Amino acid sequence: MSALVRILRFTRSLTPYYIGIMISAAIVTAAGLAVPFITGRATDIVVDAVTAIAGGNDVSETAIRSVLLLALALLAASLIDTVVSNVGGYWGDVMSAKMRAILSTRYFDKLLNLPQRYYDNELTGTIVSRLNRSITEITNFMKSFSNMFVMLILTTLSVLVISIWYYWPLALLLAIAYPTYFWLTALTSRKWQRIEGEKNEHVDIASGRFAEVVGQIKVVKSFARESSELEHFKDHFGNTVTLTKEQSAYWHKMDTLRRAVLNVIFFGIYLLIFVRTVQGHFSPGEMVMLIQLMALAREPVTSLSWVVDTAQRAIAGSRSYFEVMELDPAKIEGTGGRPHAPSISDGPDVPMISFKNVRFGYDDADDVLDGISFEVDRGERIAFVGESGGGKTTLINLLMGLYATRSGDIEVAGIDADLMTLRQTIGVVFQDPALFSGTVAENIAYGKPDATEEEIAAVARRAAVDSFVAKFPNGYETLIGERGMKLSGGQKQRIAVARAMLKDAPILVLDEATSALDTKSERLVQAGLDDLMRGRTSLIIAHRLSTIAEVDRIVTLKNGRIDEIGTPAQLASSGGIYAELLALQNSSSKADRKRLRDFEVIG
Ligand SMILES: Nc1ncnc2c1ncn2[C@@H]1O[C@H](COP(=O)(O)OP(=O)(O)O)[C@@H](O)[C@H]1O
Ligand SMILES: [Mg+2]
Repeated sequence: MSALVRILRFTRSLTPYYIGIMISAAIVTAAGLAVPFITGRATDIVVDAVTAIAGGNDVSETAIRSVLLLALALLAASLIDTVVSNVGGYWGDVMSAKMRAILSTRYFDKLLNLPQRYYDNELTGTIVSRLNRSITEITNFMKSFSNMFVMLILTTLSVLVISIWYYWPLALLLAIAYPTYFWLTALTSRKWQRIEGEKNEHVDIASGRFAEVVGQIKVVKSFARESSELEHFKDHFGNTVTLTKEQSAYWHKMDTLRRAVLNVIFFGIYLLIFVRTVQGHFSPGEMVMLIQLMALAREPVTSLSWVVDTAQRAIAGSRSYFEVMELDPAKIEGTGGRPHAPSISDGPDVPMISFKNVRFGYDDADDVLDGISFEVDRGERIAFVGESGGGKTTLINLLMGLYATRSGDIEVAGIDADLMTLRQTIGVVFQDPALFSGTVAENIAYGKPDATEEEIAAVARRAAVDSFVAKFPNGYETLIGERGMKLSGGQKQRIAVARAMLKDAPILVLDEATSALDTKSERLVQAGLDDLMRGRTSLIIAHRLSTIAEVDRIVTLKNGRIDEIGTPAQLASSGGIYAELLALQNSSSKADRKRLRDFEVIG
C-alpha cells in the first residue's frame, strides 16, 4: 500500500487520467450490472407470454413491445460498454506513456546527479535493466489498477446490496468468499515476491554483463571468450527458469486452493438460488438475473488475483526504483569536502587552485593521497610526476569534484559553491578520451554546443584533428561509433584535446593527453596545447618528460605524498624522482627502461 501511495504522490500530475479511467470503468461496470436485470425482466415476460399462449390466449402485443424495448436496452448497454471502454482504454494508454516518461526522466535525472562513486560500483547494463523492469511493472500495475479498482468496488458492493435485497444468505456467502480469497492471495504474495526478487537479481547481473560484453566485444573476441561469456549468461537465465518453476508451482498450488474454495462457496450460492426458485420464492426471471449477477460477482474475485499479481510485481519493481530515487548523494559520497571558492577575506591575490592537506581514498580502501598541499597561481603551468597508480588521476578527480575528500580542503578561485560552475571553469582531457557516438563535430562541440563551424574548425586545426578528418569522405559529419570505436586511439585523443580547447575554460587539465600519439602528431598537438596554455592555469600529467620541460613547476608524488615541488631546473639537480627519471631517460640499459615504464614515462 505504501508503494501505491508513493507512486501516486510521484505521479500527481496524472490525477486527471486516473479519475477519467475510473469514471469510464464505473460507467462500464454500471452498464454490465444492468444486463442481468434486463435479461431477468425479459425472462419473466417471455415465461408469462408462453404460459398464456399454452393456456390458449393470443400472442400479446404488449409483451412483444416490452421484449423489443428490453432488447434495445441490452443494445444500449453494450454500446455504452463498447464506446466508454475504448475511451477509457485510450486514457489508459496515454496515462501509461506519460507515467513511463515521468518515471524514466526522473530516474535519469537522479542518476545524472549521483556521485561518481555510485557508478564505480554499478554496471551500466544492470542500471538499465533495473530501470526498464521497474518502470514497466509500475506502469502496468497503475493501468490495471485504475481500471479495475472501481470495477472491483462497484461490482462487489452492488452485488452484495442486491443479494441482501433478494435473499440475505446469498450476501453472507459472498461476504465469506471475498475476504477468504483475498487472504489466500495475500498469503501467496510473500513467497512469490521473494522468488521474484531473486529472479530479477539474476536478470540484472546477466544484463549488466551483457552490456559490458557487447561494449567490449573486441576484447571478448580477442581472448576467445565468447563461449564462456555465453555460458555465464545462460547460467543466470537457467537459474531464473529453476526459480520460476518453484515460484509458479507454488503460485498455482495456492491458486488451485483458493479457486477450489471459491467454487465450493459458489456451489452453495447456486444451490440456494435453484432451491429457492423451485420453492417458488424467486420467479424464473429473478433466477436468471441472480445467476448472471453471481457470475458478475465472480469476476472481481478473479480479477482481484490479477491485480494482486501485478501489484506484487509493482511492489518489487517500485522498491528498486525508489531505492535509487531515495539514494542520498551525501551518504554515497561520505562526509568529506568538495572543491569550493576561497573565502572573500582571503583577498584578491588568492592562488587559482590550492590543495590544503588533502587526504583521500576510494570507498573503504586505504588512502591514495595523504597530506597533499600545494598552490597553483593564476596562469601557472604545473606538472605532476609519479609512479603509475600513484594518484595523479585521482588528484584531478578531486579537483573536478568527482569525489569528496576524506579530509582537507580544495579551493578554486572564481567559482561559486556549486559543482556546475567549478566544472565549467575547467577544461579537461582525460587519460581515456571517452567520446560519444555521433559525429566528429558533435564531439568537439560537446562542451560548447552552440559553437560555430568556424570555431570547431579552428580548434580542430590546433589539435591536429583536421589532418585526419580531411581524409574522411564526410569530414566533420563522420559518425565515429560508440565511444568513438571507429577511430584510432590517437585520433580519439586529438578530438578530446579539441573538445577541451573549444571549451576555452580558465583552468586546463591534461591527464596524459597525448599518450596515444606518435612523435610527429604529438609535436603538432603539443604546439597547439602550448598555445592554449599560454596565460591559462594548467595542470599537466605528462607521458613524456619532454612535454613538461617548459612548465613553471613540477610536483612529484611518492607513496601518496608530495615528494618535491620546484622548477624543472631545481628538480633536475635535486636528486629526486624527476632527476632520476631524467637520468633514466638518457640511459639505454634494460633495467632503466623498465623503471621508466613504471612511471608511465617514455624517453
Ligand atoms: N574509481 C576507483 N575506485 C577505486 N580505486 C581506484 C579508482 N580509481 C583509481 N583507483 C586506485 O587509486 C590509485 C591511484 O590511481 P590513479 O589516480 O589512477 O593513479 P595514476 O593516475 O597516478 O596512475 C590506484 O591504486 C588505483 O587502483
Ligand atoms: Mg592516471
